[in-house]
This record gives sequence, structure tokens and C-alpha cells, in this order.
Amino acid sequence: MQKSILITGGAGFIGSHVIRRFVNNYPGYTIVNADNLTYAGNLENLKDIETAPNYIFRKTDITDKESVMALFNDFSFDGVIHLAAESHVDRSITSPDEFIYTNIIGTVNLLNAFRSSAPGVTGKKLFYHISTDEVYGSLGRSGLFTEETPYDPKSPYSASKASSDHMVRAFGNTFGFHWIISNCSNNYGPNQFPEKLIPLTINNIKTNRQIPVYGRGENVRDWLYVEDHAAAIDLIFHNGVPGETYNIGGDNEWKNIDLVTLLCRIMDEKLGRDKGTSEKLITFVTDRAGHDLRYAIDCRKLKRDLGWKPSVNFREGLTRTVEWYLANNEWLERIVSGEYTQYYQQQYTRKS
Ligand code: NAD
Ligand code: TYD
Repeated sequence: MQKSILITGGAGFIGSHVIRRFVNNYPGYTIVNADNLTYAGNLENLKDIETAPNYIFRKTDITDKESVMALFNDFSFDGVIHLAAESHVDRSITSPDEFIYTNIIGTVNLLNAFRSSAPGVTGKKLFYHISTDEVYGSLGRSGLFTEETPYDPKSPYSASKASSDHMVRAFGNTFGFHWIISNCSNNYGPNQFPEKLIPLTINNIKTNRQIPVYGRGENVRDWLYVEDHAAAIDLIFHNGVPGETYNIGGDNEWKNIDLVTLLCRIMDEKLGRDKGTSEKLITFVTDRAGHDLRYAIDCRKLKRDLGWKPSVNFREGLTRTVEWYLANNEWLERIVSGEYTQYYQQQYTRKS
């Protein structure tokens, strides 16, 4: 079927995997990627599909109401998958304002443009909002986040995402259009910006720099390979029930220190270094302010209702990720110059 789909934030980490999947799997769809190319947006992530006949890139700042309206006027979208966001917790602690503009106001701009292009309850157009498990706050040593867990965000990032989730539900309810939200756990894989734990660790091992582990490394995250998230988004977009929320997770909890140690071992193997070489780089640094202790997801609803399950086991996914970063040195080199160097100095000199 011919359809026109807007995907926001498609030049970023998860967005680029979603764009690639949709462009390749649905030749009948026109995929419009609207992205402002912030420090985290990189069109190199999409080199392999940039000339595909069903792909269009449109540089758009979602905080700019007029640009968003113009985008919706130029295309008649049958659906929206909204990923564009400021996504890094540490940056939300040092400069929260961008998170409010992009994640909250940007989402509201999209919702306003969407409702004026898809008015009335009979419209079957879907606004699919991609969110995070961090909106639920922090767990103790036990328990899981379900779709019914009350929101309790604790960082400026998670509060801005929680706010955008509320806006999507409120606009859908008030103006009567179809919406879905999914809340996913931590993603990892190729193309992730090296400010996040896994690519930062890989890059620091590669360049023989200290690996900064916050606190004592006791915090726990649930990790999902990015292509499994993209597969879940595809399934939910096509088969999810409007008005529903789906949790997505990897059933794969790791303490940060155990994860970093495993990565050190994989890197030693891949770089042909003696066992234990990279572990010597592990350095405990001042903890993140308000650091959430543990995230863990109950994603039985998605498995039961839509038949999704993760396909990549963690050791295999981490090995693939390490191999990708080692094979794509130029991608990494270009990113770690300029803005990243400044960010890294600000973020880590005062922590060690
Ligand atoms: P990312 O930071 O890698 O990419 C974000 C993209 O959004 C970039 O391409 C950037 O240029 C674009 N963007 C930022 N501000 C914009 C603006 N004002 N206008 C237009 N585009 C803008 O993020 P990611 O890790 O790929 O995350 C994508 C989405 O998934 C986010 O909504 C995030 O909250 C959510 N999410 C991420 C994770 C994770 O582990 N990374 C987990 C769950 C949910
Ligand atoms: P991150 O990748 O920033 O994702 P999030 O904060 O959204 O979960 O961090 C993952 C975990 O790793 C989190 O508990 C914070 C920790 N961490 C470090 O210990 N050192 C670091 O340099 C970074 C970036 C994160």
C-alpha cells in the first residue's frame, strides 16, 4: 500500500536503524526523515539508503512551530513515528533547557501540526511516540516496570520525556486521534553516540583512556540490541492497538561494573591484548547527581499481544557492537573531535 510516513530524529542512533528498516522493508512507503542534525544527528548513519527512491531527508527543527507546520503542509503523512529528542541524562543535568524545548515543546509542535492535518476521530492516522522506561523512575533491588507503573521521573531528561508522553495521551484524548506510546529500556549497538556508557567504554579502551564508572558501578540497566528495538517499533506501528502503551525490554539486567568488565574482556580479545589489560583502565568517579539505581522492564504485554521477542543475545550483540566500532574508525574519529572533546572535558575532568 502507498503510504507516507514521517520519522523524526532519523539521523540519530535508534532513528537511523528504524529508517533503514522501513526504507528497506516497505518500498511502497515514502519515508520522510525530519531531523535538525544536532551534535547527535549524523547523516553518515544513513549512507547506505540515502539514495533510495522511497527516502527523503528534510532538515527540520521541531522546536520551530512554523517549520513543523510547513513540513506537514508539504507532505500528507499517513503516520508519524516520533523519535527526535535530546537523549543524554548527563547533558540534561548540566543544561536542562534544551530538553524542555526539544522534548516537550517540540513534541507539542508535532502534535499540533498532526491534529490539524488529521482532524476528527474517524482518521486512522497514527501518532506513535517513542519513549523511555526512565519515565517510571527508579526501582529498588527487585520489581519490574509494567505499563501500569505510575510515572515518577527523577532527572530533567526523564521528566521531559514523561511530560511529552502526557502530552501525547492528552492531545489524543482531547482531539480524538490515534496514538501509541512505547517505553523502552537502554539500547546499544552500532551508531550510538560515544557519550553513552557502552560506546564511551569501547572508545576509551581503544584509545587507552580511563573508563569512568559512576559511584561503585552498582547501578543496574536492562540492555536491548538496537535492531530488536527497531523490530518492535515496526511491529507496534503496524499491529499495535491505538490508545495503548507497550513496554519494550531485553530481560537482560546488568550492573554497570559487570557490563564494563565484560566489555573489557571482549575488547582485549578483539585487540589482541593480554587478558586483564583493559580492566586496569576502570576508574570509579563521582556519581551522577540523582543517579537512578535500577531499571527493569516487564514486557510480557508486547510478547503476548504482538508476538515480539528480542533476537540478539547480549554477548553476541556486544561483540557485533565492538566489531562495528573497530571497523568504523572514521565515523568515530569525526565525532570525537570538536564539540565532543569540549563536552568530555567538562563532564569528566571534574569527576576523576
Ligand atoms: P540520539 O540522541 O542518538 O538521536 C536524537 C536525534 O534527534 C538526533 O538525530 C538529533 O539530531 C535529533 N534532534 C534532536 N533535537 C532535535 C530538534 N530540535 N529537531 C529535530 N531533530 C532533533 O537519540 P536516540 O538514543 O536515538 O533516542 C531516540 C529516541 O528514543 C529518543 O526519543 C529517546 O528518548 C528514545 N529512547 C532512547 C533509548 C536509548 O537507550 N538510547 C531508550 C529508550 C528510548
Ligand atoms: P547511559 O548510557 O548514560 O544511559 P542512562 O543513564 O540513560 O541509563 O548510562 C548507563 C549507565 O552507566 C548509568 O547507570 C550511568 C552509567 N555511566 C557510567 O558509569 N559512566 C559513564 O561515563 C556514563 C556515560 C554512564
